[in-house]
Amino acid sequence: MYMGKEIKRIGVFTSGGDAPGMNAGIRSVVRTAIYYGFEVVGILNGYKGMIEGDFMAMDSASVSNIIQRGGTILKTARSKEFMTEEGRERAFWQLSNAGIDALIAIGGNGTFTGADKLGKEHSIPIIGLPGTIDNDLFGTDNTIGYDTALNTVIDAVDKIRDTASSHNRLFFIEVMGRDAGFIALNTGIACGAEDILIPEEQTSIDDLIGILDRGFRQNKNSGIIIVAEGDDSGGALQIAQRVNELYDHYETRVTILGHIQRGGSPTCVDRVLASRMGYEAVKALKNGYKGIMIGIVDDQVAYTPMSKAIKHHNIMNKDLLEIARVLSL
Ligand code: F6P
Repeated sequence: MYMGKEIKRIGVFTSGGDAPGMNAGIRSVVRTAIYYGFEVVGILNGYKGMIEGDFMAMDSASVSNIIQRGGTILKTARSKEFMTEEGRERAFWQLSNAGIDALIAIGGNGTFTGADKLGKEHSIPIIGLPGTIDNDLFGTDNTIGYDTALNTVIDAVDKIRDTASSHNRLFFIEVMGRDAGFIALNTGIACGAEDILIPEEQTSIDDLIGILDRGFRQNKNSGIIIVAEGDDSGGALQIAQRVNELYDHYETRVTILGHIQRGGSPTCVDRVLASRMGYEAVKALKNGYKGIMIGIVDDQVAYTPMSKAIKHHNIMNKDLLEIARVLSL
């Protein structure tokens, strides 16, 4: 609990990779804050804009008609300068100058690492909203943007499946997730992938070829392998090349889905999640909390220290791994 000075003006910003639902989060923060009598300032371009004093006053109308839009109206950036103490000092000076006495940060690991440092070095309460398609933060079942990304991926993979089966081809499809295989695992199950390669499990080329060959002998004439970008195989291109060298029963193709996964109109799940979290973030500030991330766990609001949210990985459900294996027979 924070027993510092009374909060009058809240700064809200998005940082790191954009995620669908961030706008719904901004809207919720702005409207809840106004409801409780706070003033709200939007900080443009994440920490870069904070250092440069790129601020704009926000009222209820400034967040009209954005709940359905992907990306972030506040823009986002990755700032090297903010990683230094001098950068954070400059940012804090800009915040004080603009009378901003509390912050709500929407982002992922990098965002919270910076926020945690800023909050500890300077006396400013900060609350985090988990906004990243990767779902790699501890303290929440889902991050904002994850559900939309999953749906974007399954839509793309279903389309690729049409070509795979029409041409009798094996597709290696790379999805995002530098450190985490949540997108790969869930979309792999949802699309009936023949195999799923994720950073949480060591990839064995022999096992993969075993699965492909078993399918081939059962008259499977096409297939989909979902590869998380952070998989230890090095990614879809590398693993496809190695498989090609050792096993030539299939004509192979590689698709890297890339940033298509970060865009688009947020799903209902992400809009509601972001709306709930934005509301809870303002209430947490109002009730004197600081340095925490808002999560929803088992449909209940959960507060997790930001330092813990970034250090501990969200837990991968081992049952899903087993289900993926059984169903790929
Ligand atoms: O953290 C979200 C994410 O989309 C990761 O899945 C991906 O590795 C990374 O961001 C890509 O970042 P950038 O848009 O800066 O290339």
